[in-house]
Amino acid sequence: MTAYLNGQFLPLDEARISPLDRGFLFGDGAYEVIPVYARRAFRLEQHLARLQRTLDGIALANPHSAGEWQERLQRVISASEFDDQSVYLQVTRGADNKREQSFPKDLPPTVFIFSTVLPVLTAQRENGIAVLSAVDNRWLRCHLKTVSLLPNVLLRQQAIDVGAAETILLRDGILSEGATSNIFVVKDGVLLAPQRDHRMLAGITYDLVLELAAAHGMPCQLRDIADAELRVADELWLSSSTREVLPITRLDGHPVGTGKPGPAVRKMQAWYSAYRQRVAREGEGGGRGDV
Ligand code: PDD
Repeated sequence: MTAYLNGQFLPLDEARISPLDRGFLFGDGAYEVIPVYARRAFRLEQHLARLQRTLDGIALANPHSAGEWQERLQRVISASEFDDQSVYLQVTRGADNKREQSFPKDLPPTVFIFSTVLPVLTAQRENGIAVLSAVDNRWLRCHLKTVSLLPNVLLRQQAIDVGAAETILLRDGILSEGATSNIFVVKDGVLLAPQRDHRMLAGITYDLVLELAAAHGMPCQLRDIADAELRVADELWLSSSTREVLPITRLDGHPVGTGKPGPAVRKMQAWYSAYRQRVAREGEGGGRGDV
């Protein structure tokens, strides 16, 4: 498996970083996870724009132009044995010769890229998944996609430990997102979603779901969603780059709506697949990425 590390393409198991890397010591870095269909990075422009927003948010200079990122990503994608992939990229504030929290001067960042096969989630897509709810105890800069993920790791594990697939997070009784995903609610034919602010990561898939809803005339509202509304929802959905749109059919052990994937998620999944297939064929350039 080919990876990219600081200017070199090499097998993943030969890639080495210093134990003094600030990503390792402090979680001081940014990352992206980009899905690849038919060896084409999906919504790459949007992922690179979000990377820039995260880097700006943590005062770390972007080491590469969009063209340089594209070139490096494409080489890792081409070297993979899989057509559909999940590409991971990470930038940290680099490896100093001491452990010191304050920003180092003139330290080159660490840049790492690797790719794995995109998971196939047929059963989850068809039958839905179970989720757990928990109090969102993360910091107040959840709009940044940083590698400081311990709170997300611990929250998600709560779900895994009881055989559920994801943990849904509530801050002051208001839905923020999933531990590794965004969450949508359907009530009386209206698609509800939390508005993008510091309480959640603005998912690339979240944006695409909202674009598809608008393009197909599905009524939509962005607003605070109270815990009680989750309990009486007709449908709940999860979205993320590597999972696309999954129906949530159980919340804290209780059925959501009828307990089966609802009609609205079926529409969204069909719009999403049609869009993905068109992009895999034609690419997103020249405005053809419009939904
Ligand atoms: N997670 N919210 C959080 C906290 C996330 O970690 C993710 C993605 C999302 C969805 O964002 P997007 O649609 O851009 O994938 C929302 C990635 C996949 C991960 O950490 O592996």
